[in-house]
Amino acid sequence: MTGQPLFPIDEVPVPASELPGEKAWPTQPVPRLPAPFARQTLDESDLNPKAKNYDELLAEFRRLRRGAFMPFDHRQGTLIFPGFDGAAEWGGAAVDPAGVLYVNSNEMAWIGRLSEAPSEAQLAEASPGRRVYLNTCVACHGPDLQGNPASGFPELKALSSRRTRSEVTEVILRGKGMMPGFGHLPLSQREALLGYLLGDEKVEAPDSVVTGERGGGPASTGSTSATRKVPYKFGGYVKFLDQEGYPAIRPPWGTLTAIDLNTGEHRWQVTLGNFQALASEGTPPTGTENYGGPVITAGNVLFIAATKDGRFRAFDRRDGRLLWETVLPAAGFATPTTYAIGGRQYVVIACGGGKLGVEKGDRYVAFALPRTVEATGSF
Ligand code: HEC
Repeated sequence: MTGQPLFPIDEVPVPASELPGEKAWPTQPVPRLPAPFARQTLDESDLNPKAKNYDELLAEFRRLRRGAFMPFDHRQGTLIFPGFDGAAEWGGAAVDPAGVLYVNSNEMAWIGRLSEAPSEAQLAEASPGRRVYLNTCVACHGPDLQGNPASGFPELKALSSRRTRSEVTEVILRGKGMMPGFGHLPLSQREALLGYLLGDEKVEAPDSVVTGERGGGPASTGSTSATRKVPYKFGGYVKFLDQEGYPAIRPPWGTLTAIDLNTGEHRWQVTLGNFQALASEGTPPTGTENYGGPVITAGNVLFIAATKDGRFRAFDRRDGRLLWETVLPAAGFATPTTYAIGGRQYVVIACGGGKLGVEKGDRYVAFALPRTVEATGSF
């Protein structure tokens, strides 16, 4: 009612930025309670000892800048943890009237890199189409069109063998998945870019193509000429994974936690999600990355999908015990909702899939208790 924090919050000193021209704020607020529901930092003992290329991962880990609130740097990659997408994610949490909060969480380490933006000289040397590319697309698709397929950024080499001009135009104009649209690029820049990507750029008269329109700038920040002076480029969203594609850090990789907001204590924590392949080797449940939140019912049930394994689960919200699970037609990266019609209660989940490299889907699936059980009470 007052906006005052219920638990003390400490302002703790955090590392300064070493990026020329950048000044990071010297402190960050850290609440003493509730206890964190995800690891906050990682050390070498957090690397997954079962990773097949453990030694390589350890070497990579040692090369990275690490620590809570570590600012990016242009000379070295930075380990981002708990990650770009969580701990908690856009699915949000559920809370009951007694003040218990139920929150799902990701524990995924990412690697953030900045690279020096192409210099004026590099831009001057580049063909007009490549110049637009270097200004607009390089952060996600890489300086040599190599992309970063492991993180979902496709390679754009030999594009003409896979895509028609109109398909590529469509993607540039409207974007696709995680890629924003670039409809604001002037037509001449778009044409030059298409030529560069499809290998039929006319380079005889480069200047006639883009002269006077070099203020295109990165799409994410608009197209003022000032944005072109930003000296660094972001290297894209790269996960720290082992050679098999599992997180390089030891599990848990996804969790669900009940936190008593009255005391700040955790009531329980369980892993959320699993990998079939690991389970069949006898690995205890690891949890998976998860996007989408829980819903709780008065009957003490918590429903959640969200996991990469495409399951929908019901937990006892009093103790975190798994009550039921089922496989969805596609992963439910969404928050379920519950409703009643004619005295019967349902829970529905959108199964869109299409993230984390899993199949896309287009179904909503609603569940209800069998009519015979219904008489004895709702969820
Ligand atoms: C913020 C990151 C980002 C930026 C910037 C970006 N892209 Fe993409 N791009 C992606 C992602 C992610 C995909 C995959 C989308 C999907 O399939 O869901 C993609 C897909 C594409 C595809 C389709 C590739 C294929 O094989 O079907 C093309 C073509 C493409 N991008 C061109 C460009 C061009 C040209 C630019 C610059 C104008 C650009 N992208 C800027 C992230 C980005």
